[in-house]
Amino acid sequence: MKQNPIIAPSILSADFSQLGNEVSNVIEAGADWIHFDVMDNHYVPNLTIGPMVCRSLRKAGINAPIDVHLMASPVDELVGMFADAGANIISFHPEASLHVDRTLQQIQALNCQAGLVFNPGTPLQALDYILEKVDVILIMSVNPGFGGQKFIPTALEKIRKVREIIDNSGRDIRLQVDGGINKENIKSIADAGADTFVAGSAVFDTDDYKLAISSLKAKI
Ligand code: DX5
Ligand code: ZN
Repeated sequence: MKQNPIIAPSILSADFSQLGNEVSNVIEAGADWIHFDVMDNHYVPNLTIGPMVCRSLRKAGINAPIDVHLMASPVDELVGMFADAGANIISFHPEASLHVDRTLQQIQALNCQAGLVFNPGTPLQALDYILEKVDVILIMSVNPGFGGQKFIPTALEKIRKVREIIDNSGRDIRLQVDGGINKENIKSIADAGADTFVAGSAVFDTDDYKLAISSLKAKI
């Protein structure tokens, strides 16, 4: 069963010189989660932010759920650091962890929700034996590394497949999609079965966050 829709603006497209204000503004504008993209210039060809930035958002009084998307390898040490820094959801790519089952358990043991992320070219096999340890399945609809890329349409077929897997399992697992989501395509993504939507440029590259988020929500 699909869960209530969630919009998670990705701060990758925010103005980093004003990060605290950007995050408060987007929450005020209706964001449900804050999507926090961690890139290590190793697993992906870009470099962003780490646990210290997460901690300072918490210190600045940000209470919204922080959804950490680890595009980094290895994963396990970062999990502890982000849980400690105030993350609520921690997602990683199965090929970035040597022991996927252990990493999922580690995330949940730290009272965070555990997410598993699939790149456009990655098959869903990693889901085969670990479904009961997963809270979020994240389907990438661009290759990870950069904001502002174009949605890869074959993601829709994959989303439908994951929706079926989740429904057959009878578990409360969120189906999140990340990359190239905008107000023109969000309905087809929701219709394919997604309930959790990351949007970077579609929110932060506008000058009215409230309008941007409400236009996305209106379509789903
Ligand atoms: C891509 C990141 C995404 C990205 C989304 O590697 O994981 O979260 O920031 O940005 P848009 O919505 O602009 O594609
Ligand atoms: Zn992301």
